[in-house]
Amino acid sequence: VPEIGCLSIIVLGASGDLAKKKTFPALFHLYCQGFLPPNEVHIFGYARTKISDDELRNRIRGYLVSERSASPSKDVSKFLQLIKYVSGSYDAAEGFQMLDKEISKHETSKNSLEGSSRRLFYLALPPSVYPSVCRMIRRYCMNKSNLGGWTRIVVEKPFGRDLGSAEELSSQIGELFDEPQIYRIDHYLGKELVQNLLVLRFANRFFLPLWNRDNIDNVQIVFREDFGTEGRGGYFDEYGIIRDIIQNHLLQVLCLVAMEKPVSLKPEHIRDEKVKVLQSVLPIKDEEVVLGQYEGYRDDPTVPDHSNTPTFATVILRIHNERWEGVPFILKAGKALNSRKAEIRVQFKDVPGDIFKCKKQGRNEFVIRLQPSEAMYMKLMVKQPGLEMSTVQSELDLSYRQRYQGVTIPEAYERLILDTIRGDQQHFVRRDELKAAWEIFTPLLHRIDNGEMNPIPYQAGSRGPAEADELLEKAGYVQTHGY
Ligand code: BG6
Repeated sequence: VPEIGCLSIIVLGASGDLAKKKTFPALFHLYCQGFLPPNEVHIFGYARTKISDDELRNRIRGYLVSERSASPSKDVSKFLQLIKYVSGSYDAAEGFQMLDKEISKHETSKNSLEGSSRRLFYLALPPSVYPSVCRMIRRYCMNKSNLGGWTRIVVEKPFGRDLGSAEELSSQIGELFDEPQIYRIDHYLGKELVQNLLVLRFANRFFLPLWNRDNIDNVQIVFREDFGTEGRGGYFDEYGIIRDIIQNHLLQVLCLVAMEKPVSLKPEHIRDEKVKVLQSVLPIKDEEVVLGQYEGYRDDPTVPDHSNTPTFATVILRIHNERWEGVPFILKAGKALNSRKAEIRVQFKDVPGDIFKCKKQGRNEFVIRLQPSEAMYMKLMVKQPGLEMSTVQSELDLSYRQRYQGVTIPEAYERLILDTIRGDQQHFVRRDELKAAWEIFTPLLHRIDNGEMNPIPYQAGSRGPAEADELLEKAGYVQTHGY
């Protein structure tokens, strides 16, 4: 049932990169599709910089229109008119009192709708200020309507640096807001082919009997970027590729690939199963990790000269349960590599009693390409068309662009923000899930931070360190050709 009444979306950190590049464009697309009706919705930007409403609007304007939404400029102007700006610090009452006054003004003016008031606070901010900002919101900016409604907060990763700091952050926020009010974004959970994983696994009879250690040899979850940390060196160096990509984005994908069937599609049922997978992961072994750092990374003036932060990592996770015992889950992520791609590769075991002697041509493999160009394809053996009885590897290919021509795939942030408005937490990380994710990586991260493990240099634009390919081979992965 759609809720009626006014909705205030407050973007804190409104002049920062995340807000400009992701949050406001996502809101704009939702607006264009009618999800943010102008007679109900008002958007507030909040940040320290002292600028006017128009200055903020001008800063955002250029980011709103992308190739996928050639919206007319009249939509842009109308959307921008919904945005007001309030400046203030992140830890003092004054700014937040002012913000509350502005929100209330908007709510009063819309009260003709006689509905509840809904307040969504989007923290496009570094986590160091989450506790103080949450305290200020709690104290000054909560929904006060006696007609119902809610106050929700949306937080972005990184949620801490390790288990201890993440738990501390969770407790600080947890004292101020209840779990159903907290939306921890991992934008990979908003990607079309990540959301498709549950359907794929549990709505297809094909996969049900095959998805286990008897048939699957190894699983790879890969993230590659063909650019370095340009402009973000300062942030990145503090975190590194494991905290930036693997502990969150790739691990979330792993959960959806490996989890058991949930009791239902209720968010709590799904998240319960994800937590179980995480809790079944065995401690990571040093010999199943390869770290890399691209040459030239330290030339960035914001990166310390002797930084040992990895910009590349391959880490093997082993899930200790009945379904997955013995199957390596290879998580691989790197910056400044030879291509930009995110994909899941499920490689099946060899056919027993191979009468065609075709083992060398490759194995069955099921590939889910998350981006770019969403696709799923199965590599399989077929008879080479022609007079001879020989085999060749080919593909059954479901390429979204061809199959769903004319369908626009929503941006992850767009979908996730809509979920926060609707109150659907399925695609958000629950507190115990976050804790379990940090438990897996914290010992390894501490060893890296203490200089006990060092990254191997690799050339920018390459495949990453050769040692990573060797590790893959050792884990049982057989390189196949073609796509
Ligand atoms: C972010 C990371 O979470 O994800 C970035 O901080 C990375 O380093 C980005 O570039 C990748 O997102 P996407 O959607 O382009 O794969």
